[in-house]
This record gives sequence, structure tokens and C-alpha cells, in this order.
Amino acid sequence: MSTFKALVVEEKSDSSFDRSVKQWPADKLPDHDVLIEVKYSSLNYKDALSASGNKGVTKNYPHIPGIDAAGFVAESSDAQFSPGDKVIVTGYDLGQNTLGGFGQYIRVPSDWIVPLPKNLSLRDSMIMGTAGFTAAIGINHLRHNNINADSGDILVTGATGGVGIMAIAILSKLGYKVTAATGKMNQKEFLTDTGATTVIHRDEVQDESSRPLLSSKWAGAIDTVGGIMLDTTLRQTQHNGTVACCGNVLGHELHTNVYPFILRGVHLAGMDSGNCKMELRKKLWRKLASEWKPKNIERLARECSLGELDNEIDRILNGKQVGRVLVNLTD
Ligand SMILES: NC(=O)c1ccc[n+]([C@@H]2O[C@H](COP(=O)([O-])OP(=O)(O)OC[C@H]3O[C@@H](n4cnc5c(N)ncnc54)[C@H](OP(=O)(O)O)[C@@H]3O)[C@@H](O)[C@H]2O)c1
Repeated sequence: MSTFKALVVEEKSDSSFDRSVKQWPADKLPDHDVLIEVKYSSLNYKDALSASGNKGVTKNYPHIPGIDAAGFVAESSDAQFSPGDKVIVTGYDLGQNTLGGFGQYIRVPSDWIVPLPKNLSLRDSMIMGTAGFTAAIGINHLRHNNINADSGDILVTGATGGVGIMAIAILSKLGYKVTAATGKMNQKEFLTDTGATTVIHRDEVQDESSRPLLSSKWAGAIDTVGGIMLDTTLRQTQHNGTVACCGNVLGHELHTNVYPFILRGVHLAGMDSGNCKMELRKKLWRKLASEWKPKNIERLARECSLGELDNEIDRILNGKQVGRVLVNLTD
């Protein structure tokens, strides 16, 4: 293999960015110890930022985005891995400043690699991808803090997005009652079919008043949006509840007050899927392959080819995606 197919993002002389499917020279992969033939990837918000020239995510172009990849080991100088092994790579620097999963091959350090758990296909691993893995980190926080299926309602914000829909699907599989907050009320049926017990408009979680505490509603929450939705969620969370947050859809700032923490004992827990420790990473992937694996996982994603990714990238940047986008690199 001297070249392989990839979605390549290039910076033009006028500083705009162009993306197209091209052949990429294999000798321009980085010098890491494991070469992986990628069969599936998936689209995450961060990929769309990288694919549109966001230098906070990717400094140098031309570049191949894709923070997720699942496939077969093709070559390895680390004895832990042998050609033919089925593996998953998500996060670390993949697709950011290391050439990523929107190419048919990646070369990565062996300590970024998770062996594909038994009972999980490469395809299903990427329907979940970073979104599912991040949701799993959040749910792990809830469970660690004893927020169980009988504790009360769990709020999920950005509900139709990748992390949101995976959180709803996993929580519902575990028996939780889930309230989905969305801007897309026309997706109510999709959200309830996925496992949401109640669907509310996201405006109900955007309280602009300066009240330090609001009526308590949630035993826990998975917030993917940030900003005023995270602030409102904290003020709506009941005593000893846990709010897990991962996203900055509404920007990076958080204006809040201390009363949810000092009068209700609310916990705010962060999720960093990219740098999650390997021991926890493997444990959560094993759960995602078994008791946490969503029912009817197929219906949570649409499949596209590298050539079809361009439109999907625009859609996620505009907040219009519904569910997950699985990228098939097998052709
Ligand atoms: N920290 C981590 O490890 C980690 C991992 C994965 C993702 N993330 C972050 O988490 C966030 C979600 O990621 P994702 O992959 O799920 O993205 P996504 O698929 O684009 O989902 C984001 C969702 O946010 C909602 N939304 C969009 N615009 C909004 C607005 N103006 N106000 C309120 N809600 C809005 C939409 O859902 P509704 O229309 O249903 O409201 C949208 O589907 C991103 O910020 C991403 O960077 C972080």
C-alpha cells in the first residue's frame, strides 16, 4: 500500500479551508509503533471543527480528521498487538494533530489502543464511538455517586446530538427515567423510542433569572451543552445529585453560584474522553459491549462514506445532526 483513501482538509492561500477525498501517501503517516487498517470511524463535533480549519483543534494542514477509528492491526512493533487484531482508538491526539480515522490507515502509539471487546463488532463500536464512550464516562460518574435507577429523573441536554442520544440509550437500558432536553421537538418520537421517558424543550433548561436555586427536578444530569444550560441544570438538581458535563456547544464560559454546591451538595463532574486512563477506558468499553450496550443500536446512526462526509460535517457544525453518523471506510 503506497497510498490510501482519506478525507483531506487543506488550507488555501486565502486562509479558507477545502476538504476532499484524495489518495494520501502512506509514508506521510506519523512514525508510531502500530499501523491500523481502519474499517469504521464516526463523526463527532470535534471532527467538524478540525475539518473546518479550527486551529484550536488542529494546528497544521493538510490534515486528515477523525478522532475515532476501529479496524485491524496491519503492522506492530509492540508485542502486545499482532496483525489481524481487532482494535479501537478514540481520543488522545487522534484526528487532532495526529492523522485520524477519516483515512483508511492510521499509525498510532500502542498505548492509545483498546482491544475490541468480545461480543462487539467494529461497526457497533463506531456507532458508539467517542460519543458513546463519553456518555459512559458521565454515567459512570452518576453511578459512582450512587445515582441509581430509583434515584429520580436524569436530565440529558443536547439530547438529539451524539453524546446526548447515546446517554439516553444507555441510561434507558440501565432502567433510569430520562428527561431529554432538545431544541428539536419534531424528534420527540426518536427520543422516546431511544428511551427518553419525557421530552422537554431546551428553553425549560435556560433560566435567565438570577435565582440562585430553582425547584429541584433532577437526581442527575448529563450535560453536553454548557453555558446557561449547565448553570440552570445545576440550579435544578436535587440534594446530593450529580451533574456530569462534557460540552461547550454554548461556549466555554460558565456563570453560576455556589448555592447548588453548598446548600444541596450537588456534585459537578467533568468528562474528558480524550485522556481517560486506559484501565477505566477498557472497563467502560467492556460495559459498552455488554450490559450497557443500547438496544437496537442500528437505529441510533446513519451510515455514510468518506465522500458523503462533507454534508454531514456542515450539518453537525450547524447543530442540525440527529443521532450518530457512522463512517464506513471499507469500500
Ligand atoms: N469532553 C469530552 O470528552 C467530549 C466528548 C465528546 C463531545 N464533547 C463535546 O460535547 C458537545 C456535544 O458533542 P456531540 O458530539 O454530541 O455534538 P452534536 O452531535 O453536535 O450534539 C450537540 C447538540 O447540542 C444541541 N445544541 C445545538 N445548538 C444548541 C444551542 N444553540 N443551544 C442549545 N443546544 C444546542 C443540539 O441538540 P438538540 O437539538 O437536541 O438540543 C445538538 O444536537 C460538544 O461541545 C463536544 O465538543 C466533549
